Formats: sequence, structure tokens, C-alpha cells
Amino acid sequence: MSISVGIDKIGFYTPGLYLDMAELATARGEDPNKYLIGIGQSRQAVIPPTQDTVTMAANAARQILTPAFKADIAMVLFGTESGIDNSKATAVYLAHLLGLSSQTRAIELKQACYGATAGLQLAADYVRVHPAAKVLVIGADVARYGLRTAGEVTQGGGAVAMIVAANPQILALESESAYHTEDVMDFWRPTYRTEALVDGKYSTNVYLDFFKTVWHDYQQQTHRTIADFDAFVFHLPFTKMGRKGLRQILPEAQPEQQETLKAAFEASQEDNRNVGNLYTGSLYLSFLSLLRHGQLAVGNRIGFFSYGSGAEGEFFSGRIQPDFRKGFDDAALTRLLAQRQRVSVAEYETIYRSQLSDDGRDTQLAIGEETASYYLAGRQNQQRQYRQR
Ligand code: HMG
Repeated sequence: MSISVGIDKIGFYTPGLYLDMAELATARGEDPNKYLIGIGQSRQAVIPPTQDTVTMAANAARQILTPAFKADIAMVLFGTESGIDNSKATAVYLAHLLGLSSQTRAIELKQACYGATAGLQLAADYVRVHPAAKVLVIGADVARYGLRTAGEVTQGGGAVAMIVAANPQILALESESAYHTEDVMDFWRPTYRTEALVDGKYSTNVYLDFFKTVWHDYQQQTHRTIADFDAFVFHLPFTKMGRKGLRQILPEAQPEQQETLKAAFEASQEDNRNVGNLYTGSLYLSFLSLLRHGQLAVGNRIGFFSYGSGAEGEFFSGRIQPDFRKGFDDAALTRLLAQRQRVSVAEYETIYRSQLSDDGRDTQLAIGEETASYYLAGRQNQQRQYRQR
């Protein structure tokens, strides 16, 4: 008999600052409803220079790691497209910061927003062979486009940390999945750039085409139909994108089920609407949002659509487990989002411009406002200086 493998725990972190999307719209001469309804974003995480992908991942992982768990982690798979080094993996910095055993594999995975899904699937395959092992999978990014660009309203940032294990508390992954890769120039970031290049409208069309393709392939492979699903979660670069994805397949469902799927979508977009895009982590924040705000029951089948520009898409599924509510700290996540401080558009622009410079010089960052457990204090001798309070 095959063992049940999947997501055992989920942690999430986003920094303590946000920008109000109605205010940004006004500052950019747009109707606020374009951002609030047309794009579907209410708030956007603002990432201070004292937080990067490594510290955000560490802050997310600390929510779910007990000393006993740390000892069992065999592998760290870190999905990111905004890493801090072209050679050394963010996973190695992270394993050190978290105090994991040196008998741990630590690897960074990159394929735009798809990296964490690659991590999740590789982790699940590993645990199927090594059932006693636990794998820490990360999706952490800073989504950065540029001031006054069309993509500005779709920025954000944060980290999701997941434990993949046998007999998981939250979600048992089903082993079938459909994936699709094509060489597409919809969004990319050459090594000499800090902001992505994007063909925005084209990228939204590629996203929808890839969803259609993998959803069709998955149904052919499994002989399941939409009637077999209780909810769908999407990679959410902005919430309207997933809404369009769902609309694409809703006519396949009976009217009553359409209402159930729409209600589940509302739950799954709630937290993303207030954080913005976190690239690799967005799909998993949406799943966490569904767990937190949705009406789920044990055994519900959830469909996941992962999309990473460039491009790679995957559709897979899993079933909700009896102890799913024990796998995340709902109260802590509510507090994290509620306690964020609003910054003005002028303050956001200042923070945007004050990221760690790319000239390698020694820098000490102003850490006065920083409240996270793990943070970046600066750079010395070309090395980032991470600290834990
Ligand atoms: P834009 O040109 O500013 O917006 O760019 P628009 O003119 O297309 O308007 C957006 C929506 O607002 C439209 O609705 C308008 O009708 C509506 P739609 O037709 O799409 O349903 N609208 C209004 N609604 C209500 N009241 C109003 C109003 N005015 C207009 N007054 C775009 C939008 C998303 C293209 C831009 O923000 C962008 O380039 N973003 C970045 C790219 C992106 O997020 N692409 C998503 C797919 S690719 C992906 O998901 C991968 C990614 O995460 C990266 C990775 O994989 O690493 C990005």
C-alpha cells in the first residue's frame, strides 16, 4: 500500500509594512477601482531593506519548527527567483540561520513563480522513498517591477514555509499531476537587472492558456472532472488573475457547485489581496488563505494551478486531512497581518529606493523599526550580515 505524503505544516511571513492600493491609484492618476476591482488588490506588502528572501523564509519557518522537527529535516528546497547570490544557495544560509543539522541537503530551485511547486513535488517524491524524512520547502520572493510601471500595482513580497512529510496533517498529495513547459518571453529578469521585464497582457494570456492545457491533461490522465473538486487554488500574481482562471472552467460545473467553487475562491484570495504577489509563495499563500477563511471539510479535494513565467505550469491535487487546522497558527497569521503599519506613497518610494546597493560596499542598515526575529543588519566584506533577536 502506498503511504500518504503531503503538506504537514505551513508558516507564512510578510514584513510589517504595507501600502494602500487606493492611495497608490490616486497618486498614479488612476481610478482606485481599477486597482481594487480591476486588478483585485487592496494592500501591498512593502519590503524594508532589512528583509530579504532569506530572512523572510527564516521568519516563516520559525512558526512551524520545533526542536524535534528540526532534527528530522533531511532536505531544504528553497524556491525563489529573487535570491541573493548567483552561486551560493539561499537554502544554505537558511539552514544555518535555523540551526538545522549539517546532515541536511540544502538547494535553491528557480523557475520564476513555479520554484516552490518544483520543491513540493520533489520533496513528496523523496518522502515516498524515505517515509521517516521531513523536507522543508520554501517559496520566498520580493516582487518588484518599478515605480510608475503597469506592474507596480502587482508587487508584494513574503515567504511561505511548508513541511512535507508522511501522514501529513493538512493535505495528502495525489500522485498524478500534469505539467507543461514552453520557452516563452512573458516575464524575465536578466542577471544585470533588479526589476523584472514583463509583457503584461501577453503574460496573462499565457497563464490562462497554460491553465487550460494542464487542466485538460490532468483530466485525461485521471478521468476526474470538475465535479470531483471542492475548491481550486491558483498562483495569484494579483487576485483577478485567479478569478479569470476559475471563470475559464466554471461552465463545466453544475450551478450549485459553481456557487461552492466561487465561495472557495473568495476565501482563497483574501490574504493575497492584502499582501500582493510573492511570486513562488503566492499559490501556497492562497491555499493557506483557503484553509483559514474557507468552509473546508475532511476529504475535500483541492486543485492547484501553479504557473511560473518563462514558462512552466502544473496542475495537481490533494485531499484535506482530519487535523488540518493543527498544521498552521491561524491566530499568529491574523496578528501578523493586522499589526502591519501603513506607509504613505512617498515613504514607499523612499523604501523602494533604499534596497541594499549593488556595488558591494560595506553597509550598515538602519534597523530601528525592524521587529522580525530574523533580519539583515547590513553587508561587510561582501557578505550579508544576518541577525536573530
Ligand atoms: P494595465 O494595463 O495597467 O491594466 O495592466 P488594464 O488596463 O488591463 O486593467 C486591468 C483591469 O482593470 C482590466 O480588467 C480593466 O477592465 C479593469 P480585465 O479586462 O483584465 O478583466 N479596470 C477597471 N475595473 C474597475 N473599475 C475601473 C477600472 N479601470 C480598469 N475604474 C497588468 C495590468 C496585469 C498587465 C499589469 O499590472 C502587469 O503587467 N503586471 C505584471 C505581470 C503579471 O502579473 N502577469 C500575470 C500573469 S504572469 C504570472 O502570473 C507570473 C508572475 O507572477 C511572475 C513569475 O512567474 O515569476 C508575474
